[in-house]
Amino acid sequence: MEVIILPTAEEASEVAARLVARQVREKPQSVLGLATGSTPCKLYDLLARMHRDGDLDFSKTTSFNLDEYVGLDPVHPASYHHFMEKNLFSLINIPQGHIHIPDGLAADVPAHCTAYEKAIREAGGIDLQILGLGSDGHLGFNEPGSSLASRTRIKTLTERTRSDNARFFADCGEVPHHVITMGLGTIMESRMCLLLAFGEGKAHAVAQSVEGPVTASVPGSLLQFHPHAKVLLDAGAASLLARADYYRWVYKNKPEWQTDL
Ligand code: F6R
Repeated sequence: MEVIILPTAEEASEVAARLVARQVREKPQSVLGLATGSTPCKLYDLLARMHRDGDLDFSKTTSFNLDEYVGLDPVHPASYHHFMEKNLFSLINIPQGHIHIPDGLAADVPAHCTAYEKAIREAGGIDLQILGLGSDGHLGFNEPGSSLASRTRIKTLTERTRSDNARFFADCGEVPHHVITMGLGTIMESRMCLLLAFGEGKAHAVAQSVEGPVTASVPGSLLQFHPHAKVLLDAGAASLLARADYYRWVYKNKPEWQTDL
């Protein structure tokens, strides 16, 4: 796990954007795993800008989103379909047929989840998975206690996550209880994981994920087992890391052949 701490979320998002851009340039047919929420907004903005400037072509790229609320229409303003369309897909040239987001209105949820896993496999697996971190340590919507081997399935949100996400809804009672999410096993099969976390509100979950024991109680900690995971943090999110100075030193003093950013 490589921990990269930058002073601001903007600077960390710029590094993330360079990593995603490099992935897409080196392999135009890349399969990207995408997250929603506040955390990746700046990253998506930067990717859209690179595309607008003619620097980044998504025409051969495929995407799979991590999750969606059960029961929300794709046009609902808080749905992740709507979020992705507004913040990324309408701003780049990824073909509609290459976009995959779990269907929160699926009539047969288990069959839909099985088909989602199959579609990921048939696309060749996820090359680069973008992740945010819940304040309770969740990855995707794999809440604490999720099986470390879990696959795409229905999950019940904790009250903490429902209240964290209430800001996207007219009122707290409107936040669905159920979601469809890629599993931790699904996420761990991605060839590379890029976890972004910003702000002091994430500091505890970050410290537990990066420096705590690997446990289902903190799904983010599973990334310690991933062979190619980078964690991009701003100063606030890194504020409870015991080895923050060490991570900063390592990043600043990488041998030239290793500086891929
Ligand atoms: C969303 C997702 C979630 C969020 C997490 C952080 O697709 O998978 O794990 O990344 O809840 O949300 P924000 O970024 O809003 O703090």
